[in-house]
Amino acid sequence: MYLCKNDKMGETYQRIELTPGEFSRLAAKCLAAVMKNMEFESLLEVGVGEATTLCDILLNLQKEKNVYGIELSLSRLYYAQKFAKQKGVAVHLAAGDMFSLPFEDNSIDLVFTYYCIDAHRGKERQAVEEMLRVSSRYLILVEPTYELGNEETKRRIDEQYYIKNLQETLEKMDVRILEYRLFDVFTQNNNSAIIILEKMDKAEKKMEKLFYACPVCKKKLAEHKGNLYCDDCFNLYPVIGRIPVLLKDNAILCSKYLEF
Ligand SMILES: C[S@@+](CC[C@H](N)C(=O)[O-])C[C@H]1O[C@@H](n2cnc3c(N)ncnc32)[C@H](O)[C@@H]1O
Repeated sequence: MYLCKNDKMGETYQRIELTPGEFSRLAAKCLAAVMKNMEFESLLEVGVGEATTLCDILLNLQKEKNVYGIELSLSRLYYAQKFAKQKGVAVHLAAGDMFSLPFEDNSIDLVFTYYCIDAHRGKERQAVEEMLRVSSRYLILVEPTYELGNEETKRRIDEQYYIKNLQETLEKMDVRILEYRLFDVFTQNNNSAIIILEKMDKAEKKMEKLFYACPVCKKKLAEHKGNLYCDDCFNLYPVIGRIPVLLKDNAILCSKYLEF
């Protein structure tokens, strides 16, 4: 059973029966509707999982964008690769960590999460700061909400040790909160909020080609012999099954790599 915002009755929610697939497609449609009002050329989902939400967002946007997905689990990324191919959408996927993203500062217009920060209680600020570093304009978070959620959601968040007080954390940060409201669709015991943030010092939209950056020093990575390499800290990042693994804990030290 899901709860969905009732368009005709403002802020009320109605119960609806959906399959998990229908729920995911509806959530993607609602997120795409929000994104349609924003100006961006490049998009990054942090914690992309198997790209189910991201692919449906792109199908709803119906506009060509430069799209990236970052995820901790390599096996989930292989499913994401397969799913994106089935759906006919182009997404650049890489293994990476939300807390040390493999992108330069201000390199992506719109960064978003869909249920990714939730399990990182106590590290909300660190996660948001890192995503704002990479974003040149906007950050959207769709995450479980203790503050706006019902009693069942509050109980679940306490049991699972999920994040709390995100609004309070954000209010202490140097960022503009454009919107903070209940999201349009969620489950009875996992009510989520959508938070739209705008950077104070918005950069121009980036049109040029985007390169991955070293998750340690944030400098552009070079492609060499099918892998990615940081000439600054001599870290080699392997590309496995066409997916770059840009995790600092898995970097291979190889100071002479470019000589081979
Ligand atoms: C609940 S799933 C949501 C997946 C996806 N957003 C979707 O809509 O299907 C959360 C995902 O975030 C990923 N994740 C959790 N912590 C992460 C981190 N520190 N960096 C990158 N991904 C992370 C998990 O591996 C998981 O795939």
